[in-house]
Amino acid sequence: MKVRFIGHSCFLIEDGKYSLLFDPFITGCPTAAVKASEVNPTHILVSHYHGDHKGDALDIAKRTNATIFTTNEIGIEFRKSHNNVVAGHIGGKAKTEFGSVKFFQALHGSGIEGGHACGFVVDVMGKKIYHAGDTGLTKDMELLKDQNIHVALLPIGDFYTMGPEDALEAVKMIKPEYVIPMHYNTFPLIKQDPQAFARAVTEQTSTKVVVLNPGEDIELN
Ligand code: NI
Ligand code: MN
Repeated sequence: MKVRFIGHSCFLIEDGKYSLLFDPFITGCPTAAVKASEVNPTHILVSHYHGDHKGDALDIAKRTNATIFTTNEIGIEFRKSHNNVVAGHIGGKAKTEFGSVKFFQALHGSGIEGGHACGFVVDVMGKKIYHAGDTGLTKDMELLKDQNIHVALLPIGDFYTMGPEDALEAVKMIKPEYVIPMHYNTFPLIKQDPQAFARAVTEQTSTKVVVLNPGEDIELN
């Protein structure tokens, strides 16, 4: 699978005919490597309704007719102007053409009244990706250690989410094959050194760290 970092918490993961866009904060994102009009996903996953995550989801979905995956109350909001929405809930799994999307708990606000933020455990053609969304460190992540997570996308920015020290603890619990840090250096408040995080993970775990600059991609098979 090809993993492309667009910026902030936005990734495009492509595998064969499917392309999954996570948390498409592109317009207005100081570090975004593309324009919202340049991405053509088949599926869009929105972890919560804060502006730096829902971003351009609706505009891109309307243009491409991509299916949006999110939690219930956020789904209700999207459905007001886009029919193709799969709104599940924490702990549940939606079967898809490429595998499945499971809604995993995240310790964070949803950005919408009565709603829930989530992370995603996505099975893409037999390989599992965990996109944590915005979250603090939680022992629940230990539940993922038997899931054979291929790639974990974890926030390291601190202040709104886990910082690098807690993200290191998350890696120890999840034991993914690869970890890619996200949600840092977009704004001054979440300034971090991803290479320091990479060194700590490499020293203390057997997980491989991939640090991507916005616009870069890597093939992870
Ligand atoms: Ni947030
Ligand atoms: Mn955020």
